[in-house]
Amino acid sequence: MDEIVVIDYGSQYTQLLARRVRELGVFSKVVGPDYTFTGKESGIILSGGPESVYEKRYDLPQFGGIPVLGICYGMHLLAERFGGHVAKGAHGEYGLTKVKFFPSPLFEGIPSESVTWMSHGDVVEVLPPNFKMTAISETGITAAFESENDKIYAIQFHPEVVHTSYGREIIKNFVFGICKERPEWTMNNFIDSEISRIKSVVKDQKIISAISGGVDSTVATLLTYRAVGDNLIPVFVDHGLLRKMDINVPQTLATLGIKVKYVNASELFFEKLKGVSDPEEKRKIIGNTFIEVFEREAKASGATFLLQGTIYPDVIESAASSQRSAKIKSHHNVGGLPEKMNLKVLEPLRTLFKDEVREVGRLMGLPDAFISRHPFPGPGLGVRVIGEITREKVGILRDADDIFVNVLMRAGEYSKIWQAFAVLLPVRSVGVKGDARSYEYVLALRAVDSVDGMTASWHQIPFEILRMASSEITSKIPQIGRVVYDITDKPPSTIEWE
Ligand code: XMP
Repeated sequence: MDEIVVIDYGSQYTQLLARRVRELGVFSKVVGPDYTFTGKESGIILSGGPESVYEKRYDLPQFGGIPVLGICYGMHLLAERFGGHVAKGAHGEYGLTKVKFFPSPLFEGIPSESVTWMSHGDVVEVLPPNFKMTAISETGITAAFESENDKIYAIQFHPEVVHTSYGREIIKNFVFGICKERPEWTMNNFIDSEISRIKSVVKDQKIISAISGGVDSTVATLLTYRAVGDNLIPVFVDHGLLRKMDINVPQTLATLGIKVKYVNASELFFEKLKGVSDPEEKRKIIGNTFIEVFEREAKASGATFLLQGTIYPDVIESAASSQRSAKIKSHHNVGGLPEKMNLKVLEPLRTLFKDEVREVGRLMGLPDAFISRHPFPGPGLGVRVIGEITREKVGILRDADDIFVNVLMRAGEYSKIWQAFAVLLPVRSVGVKGDARSYEYVLALRAVDSVDGMTASWHQIPFEILRMASSEITSKIPQIGRVVYDITDKPPSTIEWE
């Protein structure tokens, strides 16, 4: 009895539901509609979904007395399953909706009227026999029903989104009041139990890990190091395309007692990239060369395990991504390597959300500045020097990027942004410096707000900050004569320029 499962019927908020439960200190995971229960479930949440029960009606599992909370489409499935009736479309509700609540264990301690967030076309028209209505919306639509005896609860609105005023309290009532859970899922407990799990899986075998400078691979390394000490061999491959802040990663880890093997492979990367300007080809060369270098290190190390920084959203999405058709960009990773080298995979973070990974890092002593760094693509500055890559251009971009990021940090803007960086364009532009004509590179600045990188909107950096960045860059880097700001959302563009 130690987890709440969220059955995913395709709602865009499914992950958010699991996160909300975990924020209360209870483990929760997302499972598919054909999930088989393991006996560890203390509660079941049925997510919403984009479909109508008139288009697709999933078979609900036998709940076996485990408490159930159905949300939106999940509510409609419950209504139909227990003999009620869902009416098709026409008078649905969208957005903020006032709801009147009646006494229910689910609504314990919340006011009798408040605002909820709705998004539905179908409505529950006839309640299942022996169920009672426990909330009604201002337009007279059933907003909640339940059978306390059967521990089945259904709500039309979304308690997981912040627009529902008492959403957190409702989830809390379900988790603690109805499912009788205890708040025992803490990152300190996770660290302890994961360390023992790693020890028992790996025993005295060796593990190799690729440190990229990113938060996930660093936290995975720290955690595994705690479990196996020097049997973990962290390798930092410097492909010459790193940002300034990444170059210090081995030192940061050294202060935490971890020795990282630094491999300078930049010559090899620049050599292979010579004369190449097609973005996909550049990515492939960088990815393959990385694997080539890393493979050599792995062989020499005698490791039998490969450590990977996979996190929970990657796991949830890998199922969905196989259905996503168009390949927009081939992402760089060390996938394919474990099979090729006959390595077993160790993924200590595969149950954690990003904010939990950060918390684990913090608890294990990683500095805040490190933990809050923006995501960085595997091919590094290689996809931010547009066109052919040369050492000189990477150097210019690295300095410019560092100035931009530092201006944002000093102005307190960095933490408000999901990802910010500079891009060096293969374009020169005329300017005037002193009394002379100049003809120098154009640099683009990019900053976006996003949740998962799938969609993004350009971040509205205050003009004063943009001015500071532009003047510091052009005064300190003579090769840059013009700075522009990218004001395109994704879609239609992507976050990176290549
Ligand atoms: P795009 O440019 O596709 O980027 O909108 C979405 C997010 O993914 C990152 N990105 C990459 N990450 N290898 C990575 O590990 C890659 O090849 C790669 N390309 C893009 C990008 O920085 C953004 O966060």
